[in-house]
Amino acid sequence: EKEKTLAMIKPDGLLGNYTERIKLVILEYEFSILKETTTQLDQDRASSFYTEHSSKSFFPSLIKYMTSGPVLVMVLEKENAIADWRTLIGPTDSSRAKVTHPNSIRAMCGVDSEKNCVHGSDSLQSAQREISFFFEEISSDSCNGKH
Ligand code: CMP
Repeated sequence: EKEKTLAMIKPDGLLGNYTERIKLVILEYEFSILKETTTQLDQDRASSFYTEHSSKSFFPSLIKYMTSGPVLVMVLEKENAIADWRTLIGPTDSSRAKVTHPNSIRAMCGVDSEKNCVHGSDSLQSAQREISFFFEEISSDSCNGKH
């Protein structure tokens, strides 16, 4: 059964020119890139995307980071895509990833527990929410009368 997940290259990943290297990993592990777009998040969009973290102490800093430049979002598809992409990116804390998961994407391009270069949906429910957040906003917004 094929599965879809949302992958994101965060502002530090784009700035550091890691996109091509990350895409090589994506293709090497036989994900299909179904959709992709580059977008600049503003405060409201970033806060809405990370709403589940809104009460955390790192939230203001996370929003500043995530709005500091454009992000590249992709819908990846393959069998077991959600768990496999999470495995490939490695642990949240990139400095730890460099020690425990040296072949992970975060070990390659992340810095610490915040500037960790990439994102991946953590569950089927998150994947569905995050994919529609970026790729079905026009249709869902028009249902809400926003456009
Ligand atoms: P991500 O997997 O996109 O999901 C939530 C993000 O919050 C995470 O990556 C990091 O960028 C950030 N984050 C998580 N934990 C911390 C932390 N302890 N300190 C700062 N930022 C964090």
